[in-house]
Amino acid sequence: MRPVVKAAGILAGIGAAVGILAFIYLMNTGLSARETPGALETALALRARNLTIGWHARKVTNPTQSNPELLAQGREHFADHCATCHANDGSGNTDFGRGMFPKPPDMRLARTQQLSDGEMFYIIENGIRFTGMPGFGTGDTSAKSSSWALVNFIRHLPQLTEEELSEMEGLNPAPPAEIERRLQERQFMQGGDSPKPAMPMPMPPHKGDHK
Ligand code: HEC
Repeated sequence: MRPVVKAAGILAGIGAAVGILAFIYLMNTGLSARETPGALETALALRARNLTIGWHARKVTNPTQSNPELLAQGREHFADHCATCHANDGSGNTDFGRGMFPKPPDMRLARTQQLSDGEMFYIIENGIRFTGMPGFGTGDTSAKSSSWALVNFIRHLPQLTEEELSEMEGLNPAPPAEIERRLQERQFMQGGDSPKPAMPMPMPPHKGDHK
């Protein structure tokens, strides 16, 4: 048998074995997003991800320099658009975050802080395929400058103060029942009907039946 044919045969054999093992693994574990990826899976996926992002982001340098105004802009934007998954403090400890696979990492730690500014910018603009991380870029200049403000803010996460955290809580998107309550309160202040009790949450709060 020619060596090339033999090598192809061996490769096909290995491929089939990996496929069968992956199938058995998935049949056992299912595709639940509540699980945490294993250490090997995380390490391999992260390395592959960082290689491709690094390749794209190599030439992109941060055109801004951190200052209080830029940090405030990033903080506000983060509380409104990112904290649902990443939490105000960047820990990723949120209902959405815990239910994802892979989960949002603690951005105060080395894994995130070791990314270059260009890599972070690329991630915010383009998202990360096959994960819950959406791409926020629209291609226009104002969206780009928001993304740079977010990069500066993520760098600041390890030094976030209590005052900043409580300010962010006021900027987090309100749940529908809270919006309804504020609306009724405003109507009441303007001399309309007296406020009715807040509407029930449209979704049950998913408690109790969790492991
Ligand atoms: C719907 C949930 C969701 C939202 C909203 C979201 N992210 Fe993410 N983000 C994720 C997940 C999940 C990951 C982890 C992806 C992975 O493991 O490769 C992630 C990863 C990241 C990373 C890479 C961190 C690392 O160490 O790998 C950055 C930076 C980031 N997000 C920034 C943001 C910013 C800034 C916003 C808001 C503009 C945002 N994200 C909004 C889910 C989200």
